[in-house]
Amino acid sequence: MIVTTQQLYKVAYGKFAVGAYNVNNMEQILGLFRGNMLSKAPFIIQLSKGARKYAHKRMLEALIRTAEQIFPESVFAVHLDHGDEEACYDCIASGFYSSVMIDASHESFEENAAITKRVVDRAHQKGVSVEAELGQLGGVEEDIKVDEGHASLTNPQEAVKFVHETGCDSLAAAIGTSHGAYKFKGKQGLHFDVIEEIQKLLPGTPIVMHGSSSVPIEEVERINAAGGKLDPSARGVNENEYLPAAKLGVTKVNIDTDGRLVWTRVHREFFRDHPEQFDFRPPGKIFVEEYANFIAHKNEKLGSAGQLEAIRASL
Ligand code: G3H
Ligand code: 13P
Ligand code: ZN
Repeated sequence: MIVTTQQLYKVAYGKFAVGAYNVNNMEQILGLFRGNMLSKAPFIIQLSKGARKYAHKRMLEALIRTAEQIFPESVFAVHLDHGDEEACYDCIASGFYSSVMIDASHESFEENAAITKRVVDRAHQKGVSVEAELGQLGGVEEDIKVDEGHASLTNPQEAVKFVHETGCDSLAAAIGTSHGAYKFKGKQGLHFDVIEEIQKLLPGTPIVMHGSSSVPIEEVERINAAGGKLDPSARGVNENEYLPAAKLGVTKVNIDTDGRLVWTRVHREFFRDHPEQFDFRPPGKIFVEEYANFIAHKNEKLGSAGQLEAIRASL
């Protein structure tokens, strides 16, 4: 069942985080639904502009609507990840999306706020909620490159002004993470001081954590042992920090890279071990199962595992 993102946030806020997983194809969608059913978790399925271009937005909608029928127990929201104004308006008009993210964080504060407000006004007329970003993550977001040196954490006082001026429903805050496999150098972690301050000043506003993949060392090593060339010093977010962050208002945790690592590891190992094979279904089958287990594991760490009944009861 597709629900609003707000319906998930209402139950999760301050208690657990809802996993927001990026998908691009049928295998990921099957594995995602299976993993959430295995762990009895509500979830957010999110589509980037890149995913909508790669698979076609209508193909993704058809796959997700079909998965909803195959897994009638599922409870989830559908979200546009890192939208620009045009993509947001398209998703708002479609009637399929529970929420959209307008990402104008590369603009000045004033321009970001003005763009976000326009999207909020249009979205709220249709019952769609809006996530907006303030501050800049390091790493790469779609076609926008942010040098690590320029990445700036969200200023909590500015966040209050931004949320009040725009009326956005949740805030993607820069709290020390970045997108992709190469997030931290050495022993960095989440900036709990920033999260705590935002929650203090904006109680009840769900905070969204982008760049939340953990980039497991074992996964990187297995990929490299099967012919990959990933930087072995790659580090991500410590999974044990998800739940403490959730207690401080981090209600949506975005994960894409870790799922890509599962795909790459399964396929590299399969074709290394079966060089005579060319049928893509055997590794596809392994991937769906491994991805489902991966999702169930993440949900345990996020605290969303086992929350399906609480969500149902609240609807
Ligand atoms: O933050 C970006 C997400 O990981 C989506 O990635 O734009 O390559 O689909 P993508
Ligand atoms: P990762 O690259 O850490 O998986 O982050 C994904 C993300 O933030 C999608 O919006
Ligand atoms: Zn992101």
